[in-house]
Amino acid sequence: MIRAKGLTKTFPNAKIPALNQVNLEIQNGEFISLVGRSGSGKSTLLYLISTLDSASSGEVFYDQINIKDIPAEEIYQLRNKQIGFVFQFHYLIQELTAIENVLLAARKAKEHEKRKDLAISLLKEVGLEGLEHRYPSELSGGEQQRVAIARALIMEPTYLFADEPTGNLDSINGQIIIDLFEKINREKGTTIIFVTHDKEFAAKAKRQITLVNGVLAV
Ligand SMILES: Nc1ncnc2c1ncn2[C@@H]1O[C@H](COP(=O)(O)OP(=O)(O)O)[C@@H](O)[C@H]1O
Ligand SMILES: [Mg+2]
Repeated sequence: MIRAKGLTKTFPNAKIPALNQVNLEIQNGEFISLVGRSGSGKSTLLYLISTLDSASSGEVFYDQINIKDIPAEEIYQLRNKQIGFVFQFHYLIQELTAIENVLLAARKAKEHEKRKDLAISLLKEVGLEGLEHRYPSELSGGEQQRVAIARALIMEPTYLFADEPTGNLDSINGQIIIDLFEKINREKGTTIIFVTHDKEFAAKAKRQITLVNGVLAV
């Protein structure tokens, strides 16, 4: 479970907070879309609740534990093992093949060998069977984003965060990604929170959260 309490973020030199007193509870197994206009604070909220950035004030709890109280080494473990993150620009490593990109977190955890079969099956699950040894430059944008999703799932995280994962894709490839999220949530019980501008995609989630000027709309 993730709980945000009074979460506020004011960037240096900003007059108004990007995120203002956000209270939010996310139960394990939820499938949530996060919507709102550009600049409404979606990425900021996602970064704060995924431990990738820290708040100006307010708290984030993971299963009752305030992430501020977690020692640096354990935060690193939490990020590597329990949290998967998919960025709008997928940030695949160009020098590595698809399967090597997928195995990055496993390599860091010294579980490269142990998770090789899982990497192959994840790539199959995202529709990339046979393309395991291609480099990112040899894949389409949609295929690269699917590699990024497989990469985020390699440690079988409890939580998957995705910041506009379909933002740079055409509607067919976008649909493939959202269907994939739906399937992962249903079959693996992964808690998924994704940001989107697309109303139809947002409606596929079981719960929709809207941000307006850094404040949660009810
Ligand atoms: N690193 C940053 N430094 C300064 N201002 C930022 C930074 N990141 C975001 N902002 C500002 O915070 C607000 C919310 O941004 P963001 O969370 O990226 O919105 P969204 O993802 O909904 O488009 C915007 O006004 C944006 O300009
Ligand atoms: Mg954003």
